[in-house]
Amino acid sequence: MVYITRKEHFNAAHKLYCTQWTEGENDQVFGKCANPNWHGHNYDLWVTVKGNPDPESGFILNTQVLSKIIKEVITEKLDHRNLNLDIDLGGLQPSSENLAIWIWNTLKSHIPTGELHCIKLQETENIYVEYYGE
Ligand code: NI
Repeated sequence: MVYITRKEHFNAAHKLYCTQWTEGENDQVFGKCANPNWHGHNYDLWVTVKGNPDPESGFILNTQVLSKIIKEVITEKLDHRNLNLDIDLGGLQPSSENLAIWIWNTLKSHIPTGELHCIKLQETENIYVEYYGE
């Protein structure tokens, strides 16, 4: 089994807040991410697919094709968007955690060969999340 990873990038705005909490509680939990007038992040996204190399091509899948799929299915929907307003997270916070799960669920059926293994999403230089589908 071999794991291959394609990296992509997008920029998006969001705001983390709970309407049932006070402003003070939101500030305490979410910090700057609770700013009322939105803010942006430069997200790096790593998509890892696992599989066995094809005996002729030597590839698990063609990474150019994978890049095109990630762009069509994921980054075009997220890049320069507002994550609270422009995508349907089912009412969940647009946190990196929930976004990674959304990316996994949206992308999984589009992987042409091999199997989706991991979504890694980096929101700041010090924080990233990884989701393995469970
Ligand atoms: Ni934020």
